[in-house]
Amino acid sequence: MKKPSVTSFLITLLLSAAVCAHGTTESNGNPVKVGEKYFMQPVKTEHNNGGGLVPAATNILPSCPLGITQTRLPYQQGIPVTFRYTETIDRDFITTNTSINIEFRSDIWPVCNEFSKLWAVDDSSSAKEPAIIIGGKHKSPNSAFKIQNVTVEEHTYKLTTSYGTVGTTPGAWLSAPQLLVTNDESKTLVVKFVKADDANKATTSATSRVEKLGLRMFPFY
Ligand SMILES: *[C@@H]1O[C@H](CO)[C@@H](O)[C@H](O)[C@H]1NC(C)=O
Ligand SMILES: *[C@@H]1O[C@H](CO)[C@@H](O)[C@H](O)[C@H]1NC(C)=O
Repeated sequence: MKKPSVTSFLITLLLSAAVCAHGTTESNGNPVKVGEKYFMQPVKTEHNNGGGLVPAATNILPSCPLGITQTRLPYQQGIPVTFRYTETIDRDFITTNTSINIEFRSDIWPVCNEFSKLWAVDDSSSAKEPAIIIGGKHKSPNSAFKIQNVTVEEHTYKLTTSYGTVGTTPGAWLSAPQLLVTNDESKTLVVKFVKADDANKATTSATSRVEKLGLRMFPFY
């Protein structure tokens, strides 16, 4: 009995390694699941305070659709997102290099409710580096993102679109970094995924505290 069990152990190991190789992992190394909530958090560096991502107007005068900004407040987790495949794929976890939609999830959403909460590239813009906006459509090419490997540290990724890589530039609100599409590698946004339920596990009041903090700066930055 010893040999078969070792063999099956090895096979299991090989299979799980094959799955891990292509699966996206959250900050604890677990697979990122379709439909579950994660904070997409910019990786903290010398030049980046690691604050979370929040909806924000792309101009000084608030107008819809909103863009996405990294809060200047470190330790603020931002608003969680969920992922799903743009095509019908029978997997409950998200793989790299595969088209997905990204959607903000919050019960509190005071403005621009006529727009969806799906991320999209502002392809109506003639800007060389168009903004990432909120108001995409499930099947629309401008709403398709891919999670790609980076080698910055474990469990970190970047996002790509058919228009270019997602990066940041100092935005309208106190120069807080605003998300856009760029081909300038120095602007690439490197993120990790932190499971929202873990972050808020303690109590529901912790959840509402996070959401209230989000509301306080939303839609300003
Ligand atoms: C991502 O990285 C993992 C581990 O380094 C590798 O096995 C996998 O093939 C990579 N995936 C892509 C799409 O590059
Ligand atoms: C990503 O997918 C495209 C096709 O969808 C393929 O051409 C490319 O080689 C893939 N890249 C990686 C790093 O696996």
